[in-house]
Amino acid sequence: LARGVAEPDLAGRHVVVSAGGTREPLDPVRFLGNRSSGKQGYALARTAAARGARVTLIAANAALPDPAGVDVVPVGTAVQLREAVLKAAAEADAVVMAAAVADFRPAAYATGKIKKKDGQEPEPVALVRNPDVLAEISADRARSGQVIVGFAAETDDVLANGRAKLARKGCDLLVVNEVGEHRTFGAEENEAVVLGADGSETPVPHGPKEALADTVWDLVAARLA
Ligand code: CTP
Ligand code: CA
Repeated sequence: LARGVAEPDLAGRHVVVSAGGTREPLDPVRFLGNRSSGKQGYALARTAAARGARVTLIAANAALPDPAGVDVVPVGTAVQLREAVLKAAAEADAVVMAAAVADFRPAAYATGKIKKKDGQEPEPVALVRNPDVLAEISADRARSGQVIVGFAAETDDVLANGRAKLARKGCDLLVVNEVGEHRTFGAEENEAVVLGADGSETPVPHGPKEALADTVWDLVAARLA
């Protein structure tokens, strides 16, 4: 663990973490996906368990081993992730949405494999919006005092975009990291700023994903106390 022996400051708490990236099927062999490795979400699940929490990990397509002592709920699509998160959030003290949820899914699913046709260009793929799980659980809190955390990968004006997103989502904390060609996705390390709805700003220096996870749980624990 990044900070040595963990204090059981989350004992008696139930936390829900979503991790990985959703996949939106086009046909039985193809999907629209993203590059999320799931490492940050799994680090959050491991560190919460080490701090004594009961942890439900909603895992979307992460090729990672199940963390010990964590309840893992595998999901594929954004719609499945929404169902699993809503169910687990009903009795959770905190929900951390680390998953990369697809904003859109194919409007239609082809039950048979889509085939090429001689001399024809492909049909465009029509997309529809997926539900916004973070905005939904933030607007419709399952429990009073429940702490809700979102993640945002931003480019350009990272902090201003983060502040606007925090307000739009209505969550308590938003972990903002800057993404680029070789940053964050699949990496072992991370660097971020955690924005609070109370106006707070907690910078997290470049370091292991466990260290960022511990900072998130510090901020969650302070809000639960
Ligand atoms: N999220 C979600 N449901 C979605 C999309 C995103 O719950 N359909 C959550 C993510 O898990 C993350 C947070 O919202 O915690 C921010 O995701 P992000 O993609 O940065 O936000 P969007 O509102 O989709 O904004 P953008 O248009 O920049 O992608
Ligand atoms: Ca998005």
